[in-house]
Amino acid sequence: MMTKLRKVLCLDDLEEAARRHLPKPVYGYISTGTEDQISLKTNRAAFNDFRFLTRILVDVSKVSQSVTVFGQEYASPFGLAPVGLSALAAYRGDLVMANAAKASQIPMIVSGSSLIRLETIAQSHPGAWFQAYLPGDLRQIDALIERIDRAGFSTLVITADTPVAGNRQNHTRAGFSAPLRPTLSLAWQGLTHPSWTLGTFMKTLLLHGMLHFENNYATRGAPILSRNVQRDFSDRGHLDWSHFEHIRKLWRGNLVLKGVLHPDDARRARDVGANGIIVSNHGGRQLDGAVSALHMLPRIVRACPEIPIMLDGGFRRGADVLKAVALGARLAFVGRPFIYAAAVGGSPMLTHAIGLLRSEIARNLAMLGVKSPAELTPSQLVQIRDLVAEQ
Ligand code: FNR
Repeated sequence: MMTKLRKVLCLDDLEEAARRHLPKPVYGYISTGTEDQISLKTNRAAFNDFRFLTRILVDVSKVSQSVTVFGQEYASPFGLAPVGLSALAAYRGDLVMANAAKASQIPMIVSGSSLIRLETIAQSHPGAWFQAYLPGDLRQIDALIERIDRAGFSTLVITADTPVAGNRQNHTRAGFSAPLRPTLSLAWQGLTHPSWTLGTFMKTLLLHGMLHFENNYATRGAPILSRNVQRDFSDRGHLDWSHFEHIRKLWRGNLVLKGVLHPDDARRARDVGANGIIVSNHGGRQLDGAVSALHMLPRIVRACPEIPIMLDGGFRRGADVLKAVALGARLAFVGRPFIYAAAVGGSPMLTHAIGLLRSEIARNLAMLGVKSPAELTPSQLVQIRDLVAEQ
């Protein structure tokens, strides 16, 4: 394990390691975006539109990167985004993520499409946030919210950018479907990726039984591997603001809306009583061509200065996180790299990955000449477009 850890020097190194370790359909499920992957690619490219303006000769011998959100202090301004099917990619994936987040004192959002019961995850990390995809009818919504409350979660994230599933033809190309179909080519993938097959799939099957979608509803959903079961995607197309208002009335804890890109939607969420916003295009997995969260961040911060604005999409470096913080974000969430880390090396690798991002942030804060994320302002960024226009 030590040599494996030593080879991972930055989050991008995890992608190649995961590509080798995971069967093609599972890797394809995680790595790809929809259609031509324009949003996936521009999520990364967006960071390059902003460059740092450093300040020098500042005493940075003591730098702290901790931030407070909803009255809770976190050790770094980033967290683990909700990632569905984590326990298929990594043995007990959601628990690996919950435990690493707890030990590293950073936020973690449990996915509503997770394969381990939310009660089990809440027991191992009561401070985790829970993300729900809303079932189609009010009775089911009420039952799910009650279940989440009973499990002890205090922060609920509603993901609202999936009225329909995006066009995931790249999943189809990779041989992924949910549930997975037991085919010859899947069996071949299993044979040619023995460490995943034995260490994740078979180990799970032997010790915990067949994985199921556990948390989309108040009751158990479809199995992850099946010849004929259709995963029950209840129709979400009719969900609207009245459903969000309904949840606000039911849910006493912190309520966060995820998948916001338009400043008017951010304002409306705040007016309805949202305690926080996650600006996101779902990691380029929904509308291809949707604008990057980073590009919309300044407008959304201006629209809702009273509540914490968080975001995700393409964060791979401490520098990325600090660019978002300088533009007014309280927290950035990281999706793919952390699930890759959990898949290739479990808890030790995920803790290592969190540590890498953390040390990049600490070093960069010092080089920027600031002692904490709160000291960073837009004046320490230049937009390349503006610089060029001035010349
Ligand atoms: C996701 N994402 C996601 N979002 C959500 O609200 N609920 C979910 O269940 C999932 N599932 C999921 C699975 C996988 C494999 C990925 C890669 C992503 C989106 C996720 O929370 C986040 O918005 C993006 O992943 C952020 O982009 P990066 O960091 O992956 O570039």
